[in-house]
Amino acid sequence: MKYEIKDIKLADKGKDRAEWAFIQMPVLARIQESFRERKPLLGQRISACLHITAETANLIKVLKEGGAEVSLCASNPLSTQDDISAYMVKHLQVPTFGVRGSTRAQYYRHIKSALEIEPTITLDDGCDLVTTIVKAGRNRYKSVIGGTEETTTGVNRLRAMEKSGLLPYPIIAVNDAKTKYLFDNRYGTGQSTIDGILRATNLLLAGKTVVVAGYGWCGRGIAMRASGMGARVIVTEVNPLRALEAVMDGYKVLPMVKAASLGDIFITATGCKNVITSAHFNRMKDNAVIANSGHFDVEIDVASLKKIAKSIKNVRENAQVFTLKSGRRIILLSEGRLVNLSAAEGHPPAVMDMSFANQALSVEFLIKNGFTLERKVYEVPAEIDIKVAKLKLESLGLKIDTLSRSQKEYLSSFSSGT
Ligand code: NAI
Repeated sequence: MKYEIKDIKLADKGKDRAEWAFIQMPVLARIQESFRERKPLLGQRISACLHITAETANLIKVLKEGGAEVSLCASNPLSTQDDISAYMVKHLQVPTFGVRGSTRAQYYRHIKSALEIEPTITLDDGCDLVTTIVKAGRNRYKSVIGGTEETTTGVNRLRAMEKSGLLPYPIIAVNDAKTKYLFDNRYGTGQSTIDGILRATNLLLAGKTVVVAGYGWCGRGIAMRASGMGARVIVTEVNPLRALEAVMDGYKVLPMVKAASLGDIFITATGCKNVITSAHFNRMKDNAVIANSGHFDVEIDVASLKKIAKSIKNVRENAQVFTLKSGRRIILLSEGRLVNLSAAEGHPPAVMDMSFANQALSVEFLIKNGFTLERKVYEVPAEIDIKVAKLKLESLGLKIDTLSRSQKEYLSSFSSGT
């Protein structure tokens, strides 16, 4: 079996961490039981390009239980948990390609290696795997029936691909399931981004001014959690509706150029590029901390920060101090890559439980229906979304009310009013 990982000796540690995470993934465990009995993925080959974390290991295990052959590569050079890639190889016999801190060339080589199984299904997080397929030419990977995409940025790229007629096969936008973005992007990114910043710096948040760029699902989770820990939050936005929501949620809203001189900590979560540039670095306070939680490392203009710095020093594992000519220091976390996955462990398993339940059920859906679908980006079927919500509630031991027949009739009629 081919693989490229850091150190196989880390496998047992990875096993312990994956099993620990699985305790918090009851919905995925239910799907595992059903897959084990029915083997709905038998004969399928799945190439997955995902953050190599404890939660991902559990998803891959469930897909294997369903009968699929799976290969895995990293979806970000700095998010790989090396103990988990070792666990994947040694205990799950999954060809795994991912080393924390890999170069761009290694990163793309790993994607190509994961595609060597000639997949029938692809799982992507950020659309780098699908882009690799498109660049190689669709004919090179004729075996693919369909794929899934895990994150907002990936879905945006796929929609652009669809518009330009280049989407190679049908793809389900797992990110857009309500049981994904309302929980994973909001509560998952909210908590794990703060976790990453604290692990990287050990700063006290109480009393600090935190600037959050982007008030989407991730941004609002980050703002909520920063505020809950006593920080004053400023939001920057480009969308008037989202800016208004931030105002009504009680945050100050400013353009970045104004917020730049006020913030102690800056966090980007926009999916856009050049959100923080030298126009902003030059206005920042001494020791301002900047971090990104958006998918790609394009939100903070690190290249121009390097240009205006007179010295750069690594001061902690995930923190670099850039001293500007003025003597002011700017602290960049995790090289501007997603801080929650590079300086912490990513989202808690309890929230990835729902995201990956959507992934597993969407894969099954594609196997049953892929041949009838067009080369489009599809929503996760509503039945899957509702099923995941129901299973999660059940696993929490929670019951909710049900509509009576007369209530259903009332809600679907127009005849009764004042
Ligand atoms: P979203 O589309 O809900 O929100 C993005 C927000 O940023 C929008 O309101 C948009 O108007 C705003 N925005 C865009 N350009 C801006 C700019 N230049 N300045 C200020 N605001 C701007 O997207 P979502 O789901 O919140 O995702 C944001 C990013 O985070 C994406 O790249 C996504 O892939 C990534 N993501 C990262 C996760 C992680 O684990 N770190 C988890 C989930 C998503």
